[in-house]
Amino acid sequence: MPTPREHDSGLEGLRVLVVDDEEDIRLGLKKLLGSLGGQIRAAADGEEALRIVQTEGADVILTDLMMPRMGGQELLVAVKERSPETAVVILTGFGTIQAAVSSLHAGAAHFMIKPFENAEVLSLVSRLGRQVLAQRASMADRDGGGGPDLVAEDPAMREVLELVHRVAPSPVPVLIEGASGTGKEVIARTVHARSQVSDRPFQAVNAAALPDTLLESELFGHVRGSFTGADRDRKGIFREARGGSVFLDEVASMSPSFQGKLLRVLQEKRVRPLGSSRDEPVDFRLIAATNRDLEAMFRSGEFREDLFYRLGVVRIRLPLLKDRPADILPIAMRFLSRAAETCIGEGAAARFHFSPAAVEALEGHSWPGNVRELENALYRAVIVCRDGKIQPHHLGLEGEPWSRRDEGDETEEVPYAEGKQRAIERFQREFVRRALEAAEGNISRAAERCGLTRAALQRIMRQHGIEREAFRNP
Ligand SMILES: Nc1ncnc2c1ncn2[C@@H]1O[C@H](COP(=O)(O)OP(=O)(O)OP(=O)(O)O)[C@@H](O)[C@H]1O
Ligand SMILES: [Mg+2]
Repeated sequence: MPTPREHDSGLEGLRVLVVDDEEDIRLGLKKLLGSLGGQIRAAADGEEALRIVQTEGADVILTDLMMPRMGGQELLVAVKERSPETAVVILTGFGTIQAAVSSLHAGAAHFMIKPFENAEVLSLVSRLGRQVLAQRASMADRDGGGGPDLVAEDPAMREVLELVHRVAPSPVPVLIEGASGTGKEVIARTVHARSQVSDRPFQAVNAAALPDTLLESELFGHVRGSFTGADRDRKGIFREARGGSVFLDEVASMSPSFQGKLLRVLQEKRVRPLGSSRDEPVDFRLIAATNRDLEAMFRSGEFREDLFYRLGVVRIRLPLLKDRPADILPIAMRFLSRAAETCIGEGAAARFHFSPAAVEALEGHSWPGNVRELENALYRAVIVCRDGKIQPHHLGLEGEPWSRRDEGDETEEVPYAEGKQRAIERFQREFVRRALEAAEGNISRAAERCGLTRAALQRIMRQHGIEREAFRNP
């Protein structure tokens, strides 16, 4: 039985509507669902429900089938016409299962047979709710906002975005700090897009990609003949910025001597191109980024303190993806449609959706590679998933049991025998792995522990591609 997840993850704006002619059920569900943190309304029949949908809207509707005036089926059809993104769940007794099943064809998201378990209701509504909210957010985002497509649903990321919007219009330098793949570059572009100079150039340079001389010539420019290969004058990015923004990525990898030169440029607003004897005035806003802890680096003498304070007049720290759980699904949906459109073609996005197990996998993964890893997972899923229903194993997440083999999960819609076979295989793998772990890779001891012969254990290991080396102590 799935347990309800923590409900701190952005269900506050969710509008749930409970429709049943039995008052006890209405009150019970209203009270239960209130714990999710959204706004819960109730109606006694389809007509009343439809009025609420028209005036206030609804994200998730739970409705009985048999009701006076307007029943659940009719309500479902009317809701889907007006508000296709609303998720409708049909509540049914045993007598009307057939009708409930056919409601799925009319667009119901799910049906539940009475009496239902509280945990089941909570888990279903919070899952559907998050999907609907994510979809709504991604639609709202597409309609504008200024700057690159950026998802910031989670409070942690909203706070970041607020800071971005506050500092963007002033010309102060900004330092963006975040682990790899957290979105440093998109944030830099957002700062620029929201600045007063958004119509001027945005130039990006990666300090780690170039040795000192080249970095210097790239940024400061050079005169012809100043070094081997410099066969013509170059203006350099600081001058080419013409009042725009320069995004200097991976600043932690600049050499001490280059740090000194950059500091001078920032203080004096002038550059001296390589091989020139004259300073040239420059006008740009510097946006720097790093995936290292620059403060710790200056404390240990690896980075110039004065430069650190210059760069970091405003510091924007990007949280890890796992620390902004409410963003995972909206970003995943964004990437899913982008990947489908790119890999398959226009309109392909509508063919794909996440299975409940995939949603759980996305939300439960630790995302060491952050947003970039999520992006890669979705491109992979679109390529390997054939029927449009994305399962956990399509995502290929590192370190998750389903990534070890292309197996799917047992709740997937497969024939009983196949599901059972998969379950057995999964059990074998886990069991053998644990035995090997306890025996530190010693096959005889592991076999003994689980009452198998050495040969049988080795056969299972071969079958699942398990290597004993992985369990040996270094
Ligand atoms: N909040 C977000 N909403 C939507 N897309 C995002 C978000 N953050 C990052 N992305 C996307 O994720 C990918 C990685 O982001 P980006 O390149 O900005 O990260 P980074 O921190 O610079 O990564 P790296 O450390 O690898 O250079 C990009 O495709 C970017 O568009
Ligand atoms: Mg980057």
